[in-house]
Amino acid sequence: MEQFDFRRMSIYQIWVRSFCDGNGDGIGDLYGVYEKLDYIAALGVDAIWFSPIYPSPNADFGYDVADYRDVHPDYGDLAQFRRVLDRAHTLGLKVLLDLVVNHTSDQHPWFLESRKGRDNPYSDYYIWRDPILRRGGGHRLPNNWSSQFAGPAWAWDESRGQYYLHLFSKNQPDLNMDNPRVREEVKNIMRFWLDMGVDGFREDVITYISKREGLPNGLPLLPVVNGMPHYKDGPNILRYLGEFRAVAKEYGAVQIGEAPMTGVKRALRYVAGEDRVLDMLIQFQPMMADCFFTEYLHHPFSLRKLKRAFSRWQYGLAGKAWNALYLENHDHPRVVSRYGSARWPAASAKALAAAYLFQQGCPFVYQGQEIGMTNIRLPSIEHYLDVASKNLYHMFHKNEPEEKRMRRIHLSSRDSARTPMQWSGGKNAGFTDAAEPWFFINDNYTELNVAAQENDPDSVLNFYRRALALRRESETLLFGDYREYLRRSGKLYVYARSWRGERILVVCSFSDAPLRWRLPKGFSDGDAELLLGSDPEGGALGALRPREAQVWRWKAGCAG
Ligand code: GLC
Ligand code: CA
Repeated sequence: MEQFDFRRMSIYQIWVRSFCDGNGDGIGDLYGVYEKLDYIAALGVDAIWFSPIYPSPNADFGYDVADYRDVHPDYGDLAQFRRVLDRAHTLGLKVLLDLVVNHTSDQHPWFLESRKGRDNPYSDYYIWRDPILRRGGGHRLPNNWSSQFAGPAWAWDESRGQYYLHLFSKNQPDLNMDNPRVREEVKNIMRFWLDMGVDGFREDVITYISKREGLPNGLPLLPVVNGMPHYKDGPNILRYLGEFRAVAKEYGAVQIGEAPMTGVKRALRYVAGEDRVLDMLIQFQPMMADCFFTEYLHHPFSLRKLKRAFSRWQYGLAGKAWNALYLENHDHPRVVSRYGSARWPAASAKALAAAYLFQQGCPFVYQGQEIGMTNIRLPSIEHYLDVASKNLYHMFHKNEPEEKRMRRIHLSSRDSARTPMQWSGGKNAGFTDAAEPWFFINDNYTELNVAAQENDPDSVLNFYRRALALRRESETLLFGDYREYLRRSGKLYVYARSWRGERILVVCSFSDAPLRWRLPKGFSDGDAELLLGSDPEGGALGALRPREAQVWRWKAGCAG
């Protein structure tokens, strides 16, 4: 079947547990999603990506799948998912699911069987290894790889008498993708959902599925990623993805791969050209303008670093592949708290939106981002739920004072993106009718919520709506060439898109003070038309209010 033109899409990500509780038990679910589908369509997006909705013991909140063909009872059932799917389609929204096949839950029936012994049908579904015996007695782990959630990547299984590999938590054993039967399972899972009418997948850490033969030791430089060169972009990755691609092609489905620590050159191997194995890659460089590799290793925000990341991918993929545009998801703290201004939070939420939405590619908007939600600060590590935060807290920097360790958690925890969606200033932020929601709500919900922003024409929410509508209607913003200006500025991000003679210039202030700026060479102020401005008192050519964004157009044929 022919693929739809995915390049026009903008995508809304739902982390269902915190989106909206429809049946009053305190947990977000697909009943709540159903109620909010009109809200999502009215935002002006074209698709929804659901983080995992499958049955899961929630060691990693859904990314530990216990059954690939069902819905978590907390969220509803298959019938309710079908209702959501049908209604979404009626509203013109595509639906993408999260395909998590690098690993399963340790409670998945395959793993329960596999751990029983070496001679059952599931024995080789996972990556089992004997311990390495020490001459002086005792034994060592099979290699020195580390888990991305801290600690070694191997766990001992008593019943089988072997170690199994887990690149994430010990409750997420890695699948052995070299086993053709495992790949058949993946294809059948894809078919199950595609037959139901799902439009494609976001594929979780998909560039990790092919491990180097012999699982050699890594260079022990950085603990959390030790071994990565031996499992990222591994030897058979293109072949395996090619097999999955063939299934997607039967349905015209879209495939978006999550690819941590990927550069442009590597990315092009996956997403360039007609015979690409994925349609887009989610890379994380724009999310690292205030940290080294992970938010846990924090440094002050650098606009230049952010701009370099943006432009590297815009120029690098131009004419060859399509970008996935990102500032937030369920794994990263809120962007306003990171790159924005505590003094001008709403203004900076809008300027950040303009900074990425108009680049070339498909923008992703994570639930709550469209109203400028911010990070929470919980008093102690016991209040946090995220396995990554807990592991980091307990394994590193043990000698630092408590206050410093908690500061790292406040800056980095994935839980900041997982607080309940703030729908209103009423009880429980309108998220649930239950006495208590499943997780802490950010105290700022009384002011920062959808209802309050709904009727305010200058709200972050209405800015997102205008911006998404503008992108959707403009061939220049969809397909135009990208060019960055004022690259060295530490206060402004300025870029242009041009298409068939029309030019659009996006100017975003990252300064808390008013600024003056000058049109880049080749643009003339006489013909400029303001398409979108973020500040009702702003919009003056050549002047920016604190954290203001402006979008200017020069029509084709303008002297410009
Ligand atoms: C991806 C997911 C993240 C999860 C990890 C392991 O990075 O986005 O939430 O913890 O993979 O599945
Ligand atoms: Ca519920």
